[in-house]
Amino acid sequence: MTNPVKVPDGAGLQTIGENALHGVVLMSERPRIVVTRRLPAAVEHRLAELFDAELNRDDEPRSSGELRDAVRSADGMLVTVTDGMDADVLAAGPRRVGIVANFGVGYNHIDIAAAGVNDIVVTNTPGVLTDDTADLAILLMLMVARRAGEGERHVRSGTWTGWRPTQMMGTQVSGATLGIIGMGRIGRAVARRAQDGFGMRVVFHQPNPPELGGLDATPCASLDELLSVSDVVSIHCPATPQTRGMIDARRLALMRPGAILVNTARGDVVDEVALAAALRAGQIAGAGLDVYANEPSVHPQLLDLENVVLLPHLGSATTQTRIAMGMRAIDNLVAFFAGKEPPDRVA
Ligand code: 8YV
Repeated sequence: MTNPVKVPDGAGLQTIGENALHGVVLMSERPRIVVTRRLPAAVEHRLAELFDAELNRDDEPRSSGELRDAVRSADGMLVTVTDGMDADVLAAGPRRVGIVANFGVGYNHIDIAAAGVNDIVVTNTPGVLTDDTADLAILLMLMVARRAGEGERHVRSGTWTGWRPTQMMGTQVSGATLGIIGMGRIGRAVARRAQDGFGMRVVFHQPNPPELGGLDATPCASLDELLSVSDVVSIHCPATPQTRGMIDARRLALMRPGAILVNTARGDVVDEVALAAALRAGQIAGAGLDVYANEPSVHPQLLDLENVVLLPHLGSATTQTRIAMGMRAIDNLVAFFAGKEPPDRVA
């Protein structure tokens, strides 16, 4: 159960017209918003129009102390995955902040229970990054299957001696089986691409299967079953206490010898040391990772391997989507300060 929205005195938006985003906006006293990272110009411009917005011009990540100061001094915060909004930060008193609007769909960096206890509303940005993240999962699948990272390094190193029939042979994805862990919006978008684009057979594991909307995908009764029948495994579940370290040494050993693991969700879901060991031993063929347990550091054992493609958390990184994410976070802030239920409230 979430608490009703409580707008701090004097921090409301008065609106004329149908809504605060598209109508004329009059501020009684503009809500003070701390924005923790640099955002696309169009988003920062809109924030400055609507709020007394403290922007982060130099884009340096905020320290815990700075985040605590923001909790005490701002009416709202617009945060990202790089902000550790833990219980200590959220309990900083005397508290002024009423809403933490996350720029992103995953919110495992925000202690939701602590937000609830401290009467802080939390929102995210679902939907707008589905296609880009699905595209990136497919990109990683292809890069690993066709050894694209390795090939690119080879050409750049100047050691390529020319075409050979047996050079850098990869594995075919067309017709292979894709196993999707977490059949939410992004999981389904990956399934659709794999099915329509590559004729892949799709299986999935999801405790309460959603409406599949015409997708031809087969549920697996257990995660272990999915791992044992898939040629490519793609992770699309959130990081929670239940999923942390879920892909461990035992589960990696269940995967097919030629299988590929793709992770565009959260690094914590995979035991990186066990993954490095499985890749080094050739127990699985390769992995494509966009996320890591301790970003921005990447486990050194992964950095040494040729059969892993490593990207710097690019899932939603297109101009269009980053603007859409920012505007969605603004919609949530505007609703909150207008005394309405924010559309993407998660706590
Ligand atoms: C975001 C993501 O870029 O939305 C998410 O959950 O992982 C990324 O696409 C990141 O969270 C920004 O805060």
